[in-house]
Amino acid sequence: MAYQSIEVRKITPTIGAEIHGVDLARPLGNQQFQEVHDALMDNLVIFFRDQKMSIDQHKDFGRRFGPLHVHPNAPITFKEHPEILVIKADETSRHVAGEEWHSDVSCDPEPPMGSILYLTEVPPDGAGDTIFANMYRAYETLSDPMKKMLQGLTALHDSTKAHYYRAKATDRDEMQFPNAEHPIVRTHPVTGRQGLYVSRGFTLRIPQLKKHESDALLEMLYRHVETPEFHCRFKWQPNSVAFWDNRCTQHHAMFDYFPHRRYGHRVTVCGDKPFHRPSQTA
Ligand code: SIN
Repeated sequence: MAYQSIEVRKITPTIGAEIHGVDLARPLGNQQFQEVHDALMDNLVIFFRDQKMSIDQHKDFGRRFGPLHVHPNAPITFKEHPEILVIKADETSRHVAGEEWHSDVSCDPEPPMGSILYLTEVPPDGAGDTIFANMYRAYETLSDPMKKMLQGLTALHDSTKAHYYRAKATDRDEMQFPNAEHPIVRTHPVTGRQGLYVSRGFTLRIPQLKKHESDALLEMLYRHVETPEFHCRFKWQPNSVAFWDNRCTQHHAMFDYFPHRRYGHRVTVCGDKPFHRPSQTA
């Protein structure tokens, strides 16, 4: 694809590109918006360096792509900005958000289309990377009989797996822990490509199968997602931004920097109900 208003530098042939020539603090013109959107569709996750955004500018950039999502059960840090999810770890942290492979909030009936994470503080010694995986490739590299079987199946995604045990025990009764059933093979609404849509972080079981069958099949798929050839690994610097498409990627946040500090804000763009439309060629 030829870009005129931005520069796109792929970081692997399979997934991920750095975007240059954009100041995210300023409103994007129509051409630049379209090219950033195209770069996201082509590369699945895109990265920007040396950005300085206020909370409002971060939200405005996200709103260019759709209404903003409010997390169903994460604490609201800024009362006037419920759409800002704070990503923070320090010397008191035992876990961090996103340590398990996942696509954000897939427990929602209409999970978010994309997430835009802006980190302003990063740990020393190159720690705290995020790894992203290409779910189109995860699907495409399965055998034909396996693809055929998965096309008829759904999976239950449940937030208790990812969120319940992380919430303060005293807060749990007041919180919402949504769950939803989605097709295992998801058709991307823009590209029309098929991707695998189960994750270790959120998926509970495949209701059409017996429990031991479901457990074994899901474990095989989770391991398949961990195949390094599907991945790129992003090394954060202060003021880097990552924008990923939750409909065709999963990610995994490395927690290899305790007791150091890592801090940033995420805005999350609303999405639509996952569907499966069989492709002509399976
Ligand atoms: C997340 O949004 O899952 C967190 C990703 C990260 O902190 O790198």
